[in-house]
Amino acid sequence: MNATQIRQTFLDFFAGKGHHIVPSAPIVVKNDPTLMFTNAGMNQFKDWFLGNETPAYKRVANSQKCLRVSGKHNDLEEVGVDTYHHTMFEMLGNWSFGDYFKEEAITWAWELLTEVYKIDKNRMYVTVFGGDSKENLASDEEARSIWKRYIAEDRILDGSKKDNFWEMGDTGPCGPCTEIHVDIRSDEDRAKVDGKSLVNNDHPQVIEIWNNVFMQFNRMASGELKELAAQHVDTGMGFERLCMVLQAKQSNYDTDVFTTTIAKVEELSGISYTRTQEKKDIAFRVIADHIRAVSFAIADGQLPSNTGAGYVIRRILRRAIRYGYSFLNMDQPFINTLVAVIADQMGTQFPEIVKQQDFVTKVIREEEEGFLKTLESGIKRFEQHAAALDGKIIDGKFAFLLYDTFGFPIDLTDLMAREKELSVDMDGFNVALAEQKVRSRKATEITTDDWVIVREGESTEFIGYDNLFAEVQIQKYRLVTEKGKSYFQVVLDKTPFYAESGGQVGDKGFLQNSEGRITVIDTKKENNLIIHLIESLPEDPSADFTAMVDVDNRTAIASNHSATHLLHYALREALGTHVEQKGSLVNADYLRFDFSHFEKVTEEQLTAIEKRVNQLVRRNTQLQEFRRTPIAQAREMGAMALFGEKYGELVRVIQFGDSIELCGGTHVLSTGHIGLVKITSEGAVAAGIRRIEALSGVGAENYINEQESVLAELKELLKAKDLAAAVKGLQETSNRLGKELEKLNREKALSMKDELMKTVKTVNGVQLVSQRVDLPAESIKDISFALKAQHQNLVLVLGAENDGKALLSVMVTDDLVSAGKFNANTLIKELSKEIKGGGGGQPFYATAGGKEPEGLERALSKVEELV
Ligand code: SER
Repeated sequence: MNATQIRQTFLDFFAGKGHHIVPSAPIVVKNDPTLMFTNAGMNQFKDWFLGNETPAYKRVANSQKCLRVSGKHNDLEEVGVDTYHHTMFEMLGNWSFGDYFKEEAITWAWELLTEVYKIDKNRMYVTVFGGDSKENLASDEEARSIWKRYIAEDRILDGSKKDNFWEMGDTGPCGPCTEIHVDIRSDEDRAKVDGKSLVNNDHPQVIEIWNNVFMQFNRMASGELKELAAQHVDTGMGFERLCMVLQAKQSNYDTDVFTTTIAKVEELSGISYTRTQEKKDIAFRVIADHIRAVSFAIADGQLPSNTGAGYVIRRILRRAIRYGYSFLNMDQPFINTLVAVIADQMGTQFPEIVKQQDFVTKVIREEEEGFLKTLESGIKRFEQHAAALDGKIIDGKFAFLLYDTFGFPIDLTDLMAREKELSVDMDGFNVALAEQKVRSRKATEITTDDWVIVREGESTEFIGYDNLFAEVQIQKYRLVTEKGKSYFQVVLDKTPFYAESGGQVGDKGFLQNSEGRITVIDTKKENNLIIHLIESLPEDPSADFTAMVDVDNRTAIASNHSATHLLHYALREALGTHVEQKGSLVNADYLRFDFSHFEKVTEEQLTAIEKRVNQLVRRNTQLQEFRRTPIAQAREMGAMALFGEKYGELVRVIQFGDSIELCGGTHVLSTGHIGLVKITSEGAVAAGIRRIEALSGVGAENYINEQESVLAELKELLKAKDLAAAVKGLQETSNRLGKELEKLNREKALSMKDELMKTVKTVNGVQLVSQRVDLPAESIKDISFALKAQHQNLVLVLGAENDGKALLSVMVTDDLVSAGKFNANTLIKELSKEIKGGGGGQPFYATAGGKEPEGLERALSKVEELV
């Protein structure tokens, strides 16, 4: 079977067992502070496991794009070095939400592997949870007794908490698990060493392929395990490893999941992949692996950047670029050309990569160009450092600078050092690295206490599309401390407050009762829970409250959100349908819209787009809102969906005439309420992404009024009706006056020359002129150079006061300089002491400024003594 058939067989098998097949959730996670990227198939069902939400299906199966490069499950450093770890991988999963449990999960797993995929039973081992006394958890005897029916008892192994108790993160749903391992070594090797001893021992050919988790608990922030109300099944099978087993390969990279990409890299580099542990081969694997993670993350909306998830993506891509650069001699961008290979291979299962192929390619190309330049300047820095080195050891701090500022992994620095027969002070590097980790941890530290339950209940119902006020009760609250500041998070039984999402900011407002009023500073979403941020707790959290949304604030937000939809529509109409939303911020003050487009939007286009938007506003088209529409129907209506957005089965559609979008935000009732839209800026934000900022409603009105008042003030000042003509006139006058002044100064300087020479004294056989002139610096220089050209045996010292500051200049004619008699530099150093200043220049001309003009006279007479 090829990879596509293997995947399809899995999905068909579980569909046949009553499972609903769902698409993969985006690889980038939104609305979950505990997770940046999807790290397991179960992430998208977290709220179903925890009971925050009623599951839409009792049995589900899919193939999920996962990324394990941050947080609890982090494989990055191993990727490429071995043959079976990946950054992005596909996890085949089947789930039961409060439906079947251990019995069916184990039976079906066995049936699929041995009867459908026909894996040899004698090559398999299973592990069950062996219990943990610290957690007070017993071993999983139920799983063991089910397994005994299928597999010899000596192939059932006990596993520790580390291997056989699965947790998604520090908190969240968890439970004991049973893993299935396959031994793909040769018969000869199997006869020599018992496979049992290699299970869970990092052996590349005795590997775990499937994990079946029995979700029973919720891990609290306090560390305590709480029983879940219902029991669930969460399974995850490593698709790439399954392909390796079924295609009888010894490495994931030898399956058709990766071979095409590797072949393409061979072709581009002219180097062959020889399947060893050599750096060159590692480079092939690193690149073949990383291109998938980076492509899908970008397609799901996460651009490489300098912070958070964007930084993780940038680091993965840089790791690939660097391996290509160091070991395959690829010093020009090439990784971007692999996107086409991925799109070709995975496009049927994951259409997002085909639809965004151009965009993803361009983003990667730009990153490659940028990083290759950084690599080059980092290497230069390294060369300089190495050349200036006293001993044979590269300073750890310098290695850290390369790592931190130039993105050089330590092994690259080490490699470069060894090429020069130098070594790196690793201890010093590690200290610097550890210090930085502490710094960044301090900067981001958040502690979240466990929820205090005020009353039991289902999760929050959002009623804010129809209500701005409501009688509410608090269900639970908790204390959060972020960077030393504390606040409370509150969950209500129902709420009119909109929680930040889809670019629209959260509502502000109050919770009020006869005891007083508490300000809600923001509203956010955590998974599907709506969380209100308040600074202090009410005295009696169990009391009844009126929740009141700040109406003016909400109205302004709604206006900006609807304006965003009209702008999106007008942009696609004017520029083309390659325009896709790539980011959006909607708050009460303005709107910001990022979209894919590869060139600047011209002034004319912008004007036309703004006009079009305002035309749509004036049409006063009514809002048509479709709540809880099946997603298929919404797509049929032509509703625009965003890549990387996780949509449920039922979606909300917002329609204003021809503008139809899937959207959860709040909107005006008809476009006329927007009043007016003004675009205030257009620019680039990243490769292939433009940003427009605009105002609407009262914001646009205020903006126009401000502009008008500036104009009125100018008219008043200039006493003119035609401002442009008046300003032009002023500019002309000012230019003319400037030129006249310049000419006058020249003339003055020339006549000054003669005046000055009248004051010449002979001191110590040298002609000396020392005078105060109060001219600008340029004129002084002109005079000095003119006299220098005309005279010999002359020392000229001029002093001036300009804008309260003293200026001194010394000119010494060339004959005196060459005779070694005088040096303007030396003279000015002495003289400038008198004006409390300093300066310098050349032996024949030097100047100094000072803050004490009173000292000028002293300086001018001092020169006589010096000479
Ligand atoms: N969540 C479990 C894992 O990631 C099973 O899917 O291994």
